[in-house]
Amino acid sequence: MVKVPVKLVTWDDIVTWASTLAGKIIESRWMPDIVVAIARGGYVPARLLCDHMGINDLVSLQVVHWPSSAQVAEKAYIKYPVAQMDLNGKRVLIVDDIVDTGDSVLIARDHVLSRWPKADVRTGALQWISTVAKFKPDYYAYEVKDWVWFMYPWNLTEDLSNFITRIMVEEYKASGKVNWSLLELTEKLSEWYGDEILKVPVSYLGKALANLERNGVVLRLREGNVDLIKLAKG
Ligand code: ADE
Repeated sequence: MVKVPVKLVTWDDIVTWASTLAGKIIESRWMPDIVVAIARGGYVPARLLCDHMGINDLVSLQVVHWPSSAQVAEKAYIKYPVAQMDLNGKRVLIVDDIVDTGDSVLIARDHVLSRWPKADVRTGALQWISTVAKFKPDYYAYEVKDWVWFMYPWNLTEDLSNFITRIMVEEYKASGKVNWSLLELTEKLSEWYGDEILKVPVSYLGKALANLERNGVVLRLREGNVDLIKLAKG
């Protein structure tokens, strides 16, 4: 049974959505003086938007999500508060890839408005999940109704690493399983995340495992003639 429905997003989708988003902003006749990309998901969309709209000024704010002590809800905050600019009196467009819960964009907007109360702030995203978001961005290219996890082309390795970690940790908790073959992992990935995940080029699986090994999450061993992936803390 699929636990987390996943949809692969292509570079072509990204370029199309960025162009649609730029078109909507231009149509509204509100021309931003500066774009604030929410790091990290907003980087590529914001850069494309600047290109489509002929905007030079692009800065970024990093919003990160920390699990709360109860490990239930996540709290979002600004990782590197920005000190050296003055956005008062400027038209500021805050851009992210997706408005899902909406927390990142709300935090970024509150941050900008609390520091520069005279900024004219609007928000934009490539995608807006209207059924779960706490708010509607001023501009979006594409409304999503059924929640899925979008695998954006700029973080395929990271997504795969997170999925693999989750599978290995949860299966370890459920059954004590520590050793995985590549085939078992691939099968579990499609069982948990759907067949869409099989569209990710297989080279990304190698990169994800190499990163997990470098970060001490997994060990890779060879037993007989099978490669084994082992949960490091198992
Ligand atoms: N970041 C936050 N929500 C997301 C989603 N549904 N898909 C991809 N990235 C996200």
